[in-house]
Amino acid sequence: MKTSNISKEDILNAFNFRHATKEFDATKKLSKDDIDFVLKTANLSPSSFGFEPWHFIVVQDQELRELLKPVAWGAPVKLDTASHFILGLSMKAPMTKWNADYIMHMMKDIKQFPKDVIEMYTDFYKNFQETDFDLDTDKKLFDWASKQTYIALANMMTAAALHGIDSCPIEGFHQEKAEALLQEKFGVDTAKYGLSYMVAFGHRKADPEHPKTRRNTEDIVTWK
Ligand SMILES: Cc1cc2nc3c(=O)[nH]c(=O)nc-3n(C[C@H](O)[C@H](O)[C@H](O)COP(=O)(O)O)c2cc1C
Repeated sequence: MKTSNISKEDILNAFNFRHATKEFDATKKLSKDDIDFVLKTANLSPSSFGFEPWHFIVVQDQELRELLKPVAWGAPVKLDTASHFILGLSMKAPMTKWNADYIMHMMKDIKQFPKDVIEMYTDFYKNFQETDFDLDTDKKLFDWASKQTYIALANMMTAAALHGIDSCPIEGFHQEKAEALLQEKFGVDTAKYGLSYMVAFGHRKADPEHPKTRRNTEDIVTWK
């Protein structure tokens, strides 16, 4: 299979280009092809056991965007100006517990495991949840699924940046109120899905006011 030979310099340029875009140029829309490309990188993201415990809602309806504003203090300007605005949902316990129907569906229909592999994988997954990671509460299971949905977030933002598309990840919202709204107005079954993050895509209105600040790599890495 062919893989890209994009240079390290180009990749680092994209990482420097990406910043949490505070305001987008509302006149600049992403093409369908561009947003499909970004979403495909979420689809191709890795997840624990390959169970893809996520769902993404692309909110293009302006009325629905308005409804999000009162529950998402970090989002109003992005809701007004972003070309595309995505809600990153993660699965809750009824979907991800080792004996859930969804897990069986993934193994049987998506991965098309034979029966003996399903049995082995189920044992392994049960043990992982109950012993290795101690995922014994609904909250822990949701947070574990969320961790994986954030991998898709990072991949979407990086892929976007490599393609000259801006983004902003958003956790500035009241989780309980936002989920109540999703249940009431977005048709989300919040017994099964929770809101992990929002993320906006588009093109910046202006370059960032301040240069990127980061600690030195040597200060965040220990070699042994
Ligand atoms: C999980 C997550 C949640 C964030 N939530 C918000 C937010 O609600 N509003 C916002 O403007 N920026 C938000 N940010 C952006 C961060 O403030 C920003 O990434 C950080 O300050 C580093 O700056 P840079 O991304 O421009 O390099 C969030 C970032 C992450 C990763």
